[in-house]
Amino acid sequence: MGLTRDFFIMLSQNKALNNTAKRWGLKLGAQSVVAGTNIEEMIESVKKLNAQGIAATVDNLGEFVFDREEAIKAKKQILAVIQAIHDHNVDAHISLKPTQLGLDISYDFCLENLREIIAKANEYNIFINFDTEDYSHLQPTFDLIDELSKEFSNIGTVIQAYFYHAMSNLEKYKDFRLRIVKGAYKEPEHLAFQDKKDIDENFIKLIEYHLLNGKFTSIATHDHNVINHVKQFVKQHDIPRDKFEFQMLYGFRKDLQLQLVKEGYNFCTYVPFGHDWFGYFMRRLAERPQNLALIGKQVFNKKTNTAIGAGALALLLLRANKKRRHKRK
Ligand code: FDA
Repeated sequence: MGLTRDFFIMLSQNKALNNTAKRWGLKLGAQSVVAGTNIEEMIESVKKLNAQGIAATVDNLGEFVFDREEAIKAKKQILAVIQAIHDHNVDAHISLKPTQLGLDISYDFCLENLREIIAKANEYNIFINFDTEDYSHLQPTFDLIDELSKEFSNIGTVIQAYFYHAMSNLEKYKDFRLRIVKGAYKEPEHLAFQDKKDIDENFIKLIEYHLLNGKFTSIATHDHNVINHVKQFVKQHDIPRDKFEFQMLYGFRKDLQLQLVKEGYNFCTYVPFGHDWFGYFMRRLAERPQNLALIGKQVFNKKTNTAIGAGALALLLLRANKKRRHKRK
């Protein structure tokens, strides 16, 4: 399990495969967890969710961008998404990753890109969530939030429960609307819990703290044990339903998403779209190797165990990458 997780996280960060995948279109089953490649398809998906009583947080896929032009293109696309949310009057806000907007190029360049996005969203009263990425980008992300929150109030961020220091981050950002998650990246032992039980315990502690604090909490998980715990907790503590929501990723546990809506809870689905799906999709496989079943029969039989499945996928990816390089020659 650990090895499979590491393998997919390693793939998620492989630049060559990421670039190849952009030209593939949505492949390998990604179409079931990515809501299309363009704004029109994404808006259609959001409308369908809204019709079921589900709000959306829209992510224009992309991360770890090292090219100025690419970061500016991403900024323009997010501005267009904001315009589309407004024009279609859908119940949706934005999730973004600072590394897509140039954080690795220059802090000030990223700050200016974000300022433009947040100002436009502010005009339309649209909330912007800063996703948190790996540890090396965490403090710069918080610095951006500190700076931009002096000018805007329509921003919030994510607290990752696997970090030992997560509670002190939460205390610092306790006045913000926050999403609380377990954490999706591979972090070393001196920074983060490695054991599922420890992560789960910290996750619950953080959720309870922010719920009691009275600020809006997005509980982002597919874990029914955590969800059931939260349901009991909010009941015991009389926490109003408009102070929190559950969030899950597009395409995952759809029955449970609808069940929670039916039970009267606020629900928001994270809706990723675009061409840059590979890193996102590989992290989903890292979290839950059973998600390999999404990849389907063309790669391997569903009953194949996850280690063999991961091996089969690796071969497929290497072959695809090689073929492309060969074609280019
Ligand atoms: P986890 O994967 O630990 O699973 C726990 C249990 O739940 C499983 O053992 C199984 O029983 C059940 N389960 C889980 N998935 C299932 C499925 N598909 N079908 C059936 N049962 C299932 N991370 C990050 O670092 N920064 C971020 O900004 C974000 N943002 C974000 C937004 C949203 C909306 C979500 C849902 C998640 C994130 N994440 C994230 C990812 C997050 O950190 C975490 O990696 C994943 O959500 C996986 O952890 P879970 O809590 O979902 O359960």
